Amino acid sequence: MVVADVPEPSAGPGQVVIATEAIGVGGVDAVIRRGTLGGFGFTAGLIPGSEVAGRVISAGPDVDPSWRGRRVWAFTGTSGGYTEQAVARIGDVVALPDGITSIDAVALGSAGPVARLALAHGRFAPGESVLVRGAAGSIGIAAVEIAARGGAATVAVTTSSPERGERLRELGATEVLDRSGQGGSTTYDVIVDVAGGDALPDFVDRLAPNGRLVLVGVVAGMPPADFGARLLAGFRQSRSVATFSLDSVPVPVRDAARAETFAAAARGEQHAVVHDVLPLAEAAEAHRLMDAGAVFGRIVLTP
Ligand SMILES: NC(=O)c1ccc[n+]([C@@H]2O[C@H](COP(=O)([O-])OP(=O)(O)OC[C@H]3O[C@@H](n4cnc5c(N)ncnc54)[C@H](OP(=O)(O)O)[C@@H]3O)[C@@H](O)[C@H]2O)c1
Repeated sequence: MVVADVPEPSAGPGQVVIATEAIGVGGVDAVIRRGTLGGFGFTAGLIPGSEVAGRVISAGPDVDPSWRGRRVWAFTGTSGGYTEQAVARIGDVVALPDGITSIDAVALGSAGPVARLALAHGRFAPGESVLVRGAAGSIGIAAVEIAARGGAATVAVTTSSPERGERLRELGATEVLDRSGQGGSTTYDVIVDVAGGDALPDFVDRLAPNGRLVLVGVVAGMPPADFGARLLAGFRQSRSVATFSLDSVPVPVRDAARAETFAAAARGEQHAVVHDVLPLAEAAEAHRLMDAGAVFGRIVLTP
């Protein structure tokens, strides 16, 4: 990854250009860079990054000009975020409420809706037990806070060290398991899984009867192709495994989940956990820290 000068972008139809104030370094950027996600790769010339916050400086010919000058959060797609001037489709731009800083916005704007809607996808209900796998990233932290506040009987997490486990307890976790699942209860009603990878079938076995595992990420790689064998082996337990992507969510539902995330943050019910704020020029260092497993929450870049 190198720092490069590129021409200033202009806003095409349906687009705005945002002068960025904060840029989120998501786990998704790392899995795209590593080539974990089929269909996406880190090709030469690609500008990584999918979420930014800042001020709209220009709007496309068909976009309401009142957007100009507004402070916004925006999804830029699977690329295009690590830049001083980012382009986004107006449908992927939301005005930021007062009280949410740009730095906090890029720690929550994507992760909050993924966590909230993944729990809903898993039909989480108060009184149920929840396990969040890969809980120390932004999505996992949001899932822990939402499940705890939503009345989960148990909020279990997997993490790689006791210190990270303590931090997750402060955010609402009640059980701390290691990455392999040692510790904690035997089974859970809902598992929100950010990790995936080879160990996923072992966590299928940790579902209670009628339990639901919702795979939202693959930071540990793609699960083995035959993971469904575990479901069939436990046929009489009526367990399910689902994938969940924000891409499949109707726009009004997605926008409502994002608005609720920012409102919950303004009320102090959800927290933007920012590991560090680095200059944009240090994006490669941010990824090195991610690859080293040194990040708790999210790194934010500032131009
Ligand atoms: N579904 C959607 O709509 C959607 C949207 C955006 C992103 N995503 C996906 O979500 C993922 C990124 O989420 P994120 O930014 O919250 O994650 P992240 O910060 O990259 O990682 C979360 C945590 O997972 C743990 N982890 C790392 N490698 C692991 C391994 N091999 N086995 C088990 N745990 C491991 C680490 O914690 P410990 O060291 O404490 O274990 C890490 O802090 C990506 O896969 C991305 O594609 C999905």
